[in-house]
Amino acid sequence: MKSTTLLAAVLSAFSTTHAALLWDGRFNDFTSASDLNKWSWSNQVGPYQYYIHGSSPVDKYISLSEAYKNPNDTHSRQGARFTLDNTAYWNGQNMRRIELIPQTKEAINRGKVYYHFSIMRSDKNAPSVYREHQICFFESHFTELKSGWISGESGASNPNLQWMTNQRSGWKTEWKAGVWHNVAYEIDFSANKVGFWHSEGGEPLKLVVAPVSVSTSSNGADWHLGILELPRNGYGDTTEDFYFSGVYIETGPITTAIGGP
Ligand SMILES: *[C@@H]1O[C@H](CO)[C@@H](O)[C@H](O)[C@H]1NC(C)=O
Repeated sequence: MKSTTLLAAVLSAFSTTHAALLWDGRFNDFTSASDLNKWSWSNQVGPYQYYIHGSSPVDKYISLSEAYKNPNDTHSRQGARFTLDNTAYWNGQNMRRIELIPQTKEAINRGKVYYHFSIMRSDKNAPSVYREHQICFFESHFTELKSGWISGESGASNPNLQWMTNQRSGWKTEWKAGVWHNVAYEIDFSANKVGFWHSEGGEPLKLVVAPVSVSTSSNGADWHLGILELPRNGYGDTTEDFYFSGVYIETGPITTAIGGP
């Protein structure tokens, strides 16, 4: 009895002081993006659900390479380039989309969890500053990044990368080419709060927006790694590339080192 209590105490101390990886989306086991095709609704294998995409083969939309990761991330073998081309329309919609959903039964939608990813853009195939991009969002949009002109705002263009909760901007920076932005959403599904951690390059993550109150609902399969771009009259489609690496979800305390546990 006594040793059981002691063991429980030790385990409890362990769980409160060590982060745990809940889900790993770092592409380390992928040979190429074609591996995403192994997943289907009837055969839910691998770390990602792949169904939100246009009509072309997967390699037109997602490409994996060591050159596409944050070079300061030594835990990721490769990163992913996501492309919106003129075929990137899903399911007859008028929005261009390329998105991956975590495939997992872990509790990524309960308690306090951290959603990590790094994002970069290049000068080549730069995302349009004239159109709204919803990036790495949940279905209810309680936390997400956005880039470009936000629907309804004044002016024609917007050069910023922003963090938003329910369409409210909490942080922004001019989105410059070649700069890796490391991001973690600190989500407390019990307390209904979300905070924003950020750094650039190889710098450790810092809490830049303390948790704010939001309705943090998720069914555990509705976080979209990728991009949804809204149409806008007068601003046609151009090919756009977005780079992602270091994608994973953990319980706390947060890992601030780039690349993760
Ligand atoms: C990030 O990588 C660059 C290039 O290898 C290196 O010079 C720099 O020291 C790294 N930064 C950190 C914080 O590790």
